[in-house]
Amino acid sequence: MVAGFSRVKKSLTNNLLNKFVIGFMQTILIDGANYNLESLEAASWQRLLKGSSSYKDALHNPAVANVNAHGVNLRTVVLRKVWADKKQLAFNTDIRSGKWNDLQQQNNVSWLFYDAENKLQIRLAGIATLHQQDAIADEAWQETSMSSRKIYMGYVGPSSPTPVPVSGLPAAFEANDPSQEESEAGRKNFGMVVTSINWMEWLWLNSKGHRRAGFTYNLDGSFVAEWLVP
Ligand SMILES: Cc1cc2nc3c(=O)[nH]c(=O)nc-3n(C[C@H](O)[C@H](O)[C@H](O)COP(=O)(O)O)c2cc1C
Repeated sequence: MVAGFSRVKKSLTNNLLNKFVIGFMQTILIDGANYNLESLEAASWQRLLKGSSSYKDALHNPAVANVNAHGVNLRTVVLRKVWADKKQLAFNTDIRSGKWNDLQQQNNVSWLFYDAENKLQIRLAGIATLHQQDAIADEAWQETSMSSRKIYMGYVGPSSPTPVPVSGLPAAFEANDPSQEESEAGRKNFGMVVTSINWMEWLWLNSKGHRRAGFTYNLDGSFVAEWLVP
């Protein structure tokens, strides 16, 4: 019931919900559908999947954090891929970027999504694996548009200091996208960061009382789901 999340704020009209102690509630009514923890977890992954498929979706540009020698580092990315079955999320990046290097030292990653219209926050944490010369990166590169590919054609890597404000792109590609053949020059700088999620938290804001749930994916394949006080 993915669509339910697009209209959730209009739907929690049942005042009775607020008369129960949260710990006794086994389901939550969203857009006319009752979710238990299991179906809420599945719907959350479908919601993330939807976020990856449209640049207009509220979940398309999450923030991703990692830690490096200087502390926590946080930036906006494009949610490129979601494997709901494997509980994995991915973004693309330039392998010359600071984060690519940092993730090789410390691969704990945290994701933050917020759908303001539906008052839905999803936080996830997991372990990153870096893909550059393999089938996962090849497939991601094939799915990358020419306008995105040119980002990887910069003559120096991201974060290089520059005396004047530059795009870093070859001049020919500032105004125009490269041809497919020309774009292949960027492949060597292109990588995909895949996060295997071990924790997800769902938080829904509502004037009649917020609701929150936590999901932990253990290494042995077991799964813990619980309602949390928001
Ligand atoms: C809307 C938006 C989407 C972005 N998407 C990406 C992305 O998918 N991958 C990426 O590496 N940087 C992306 N960036 C740029 C990053 O936020 C960041 O500035 C850049 O990656 C440098 O981060 P770093 O110094 O931590 O490596 C995006 C920025 C914005 C504003």
